[in-house]
Amino acid sequence: MGSVEAMRAVVYSETGPSSVLRVVERGVPEPGEGEVRVRLVRSGVNPTDWKFRAGMSSEYDEVIPGQDGSGVIDALGPGVHGFALGDRVWLVLAQHGRAFGTAADHTVQPVERVFHLPGEASYDLGASLGVPAVTAHRALTSSEGGPSRLGPGALEGRTVLVAGGAGAVGNAAIQLARWSGATVVTTVSSEEKAALARAAGADHTVNYRESDAAREILTVAPDGVDIAVEVAPAQNNALDVEVVRNRGTIAIYANNGGEQFTVDIRPTFSKNLRYQFLLLYTLGQDLVDAAAEDISAAVAAGALRVGDDAGMPLHHFPLEKTAAAHDAVADGVVGKVLLDIG
Ligand SMILES: NC(=O)c1ccc[n+]([C@@H]2O[C@H](COP(=O)([O-])OP(=O)(O)OC[C@H]3O[C@@H](n4cnc5c(N)ncnc54)[C@H](OP(=O)(O)O)[C@@H]3O)[C@@H](O)[C@H]2O)c1
Repeated sequence: MGSVEAMRAVVYSETGPSSVLRVVERGVPEPGEGEVRVRLVRSGVNPTDWKFRAGMSSEYDEVIPGQDGSGVIDALGPGVHGFALGDRVWLVLAQHGRAFGTAADHTVQPVERVFHLPGEASYDLGASLGVPAVTAHRALTSSEGGPSRLGPGALEGRTVLVAGGAGAVGNAAIQLARWSGATVVTTVSSEEKAALARAAGADHTVNYRESDAAREILTVAPDGVDIAVEVAPAQNNALDVEVVRNRGTIAIYANNGGEQFTVDIRPTFSKNLRYQFLLLYTLGQDLVDAAAEDISAAVAAGALRVGDDAGMPLHHFPLEKTAAAHDAVADGVVGKVLLDIG
């Protein structure tokens, strides 16, 4: 279905180290029924991109990586409503269930993966939203009694604990929670990361390497926190159980620091705690849509930002350096890695 026009694309045909990535020329794809074509300006790189490339799985002969991105609609397939040529958009899950992600000049996507980029919001921000912000939204909307949606006042009176507040998901969780009226306490491993978390809006930062994290968190929230947004449960579950309030929620989105953790049953059931695990790929379109709508509203309100001022320093790589960009994310660079495309 490629047209005669050519585009640059980054591809891999076998999983492995970042050296499997190649820059190639491919035909510009044409959108099918219910699809739009996006001329990409930025691609956002997430841990999931290098993990799949490194060998988590590949069912395709050739993959263009990249779940997140931003750009301009430059072709509409049949049956597309609600989008027009020239619309500025952000993408999420672009490469999920298909071989064509955002590390290319163009991508064709079903409209379910495409959302309008509000107002003057930058393409840098648009490409930083998808995986981190949708994940953070789910974590913040999975507790008993709601809310199921975020927005001003939605988390009023609640206290949220964000583990690793200088991470991409942690940063989005801090900003979305603050926009929704929550008090935010976050754990970090260094003073540099504490400064970033404060820039994101965290009310309190706790350096878990240098202090008694449970004591510090309970000083801020004597009755316990309502929600823990957790990246490293193997390391932090005991802490979470200690500091989450009765009938609170521990929302787990990653396995950083270990594949298993042990649940101490009595203190956990004594507090009526709820665990909410989450994976974007199996979350479901209804929850992705709800998250995307709220995320776009937060962007429009200026409440969800990237850059140094928002605690999310940007690291730009040209498309041709996608391998270096993957390596930077795999090496735990602090901030958001973006591919500059157009
Ligand atoms: N379930 C999903 O659908 C989903 C969606 C998005 C991301 N993820 C996963 O979530 C994780 C974080 O993604 P991200 O984009 O936010 O990454 P990131 O920007 O690299 O941030 C990760 C943060 O995790 C914190 N952390 C805490 N304990 C850690 C440990 N034991 N080892 C490593 N880091 C630790 C670090 O902060 P400190 O140094 O301050 O502790 C770091 O800032 C990745 O594993 C990613 O694959 C899952």
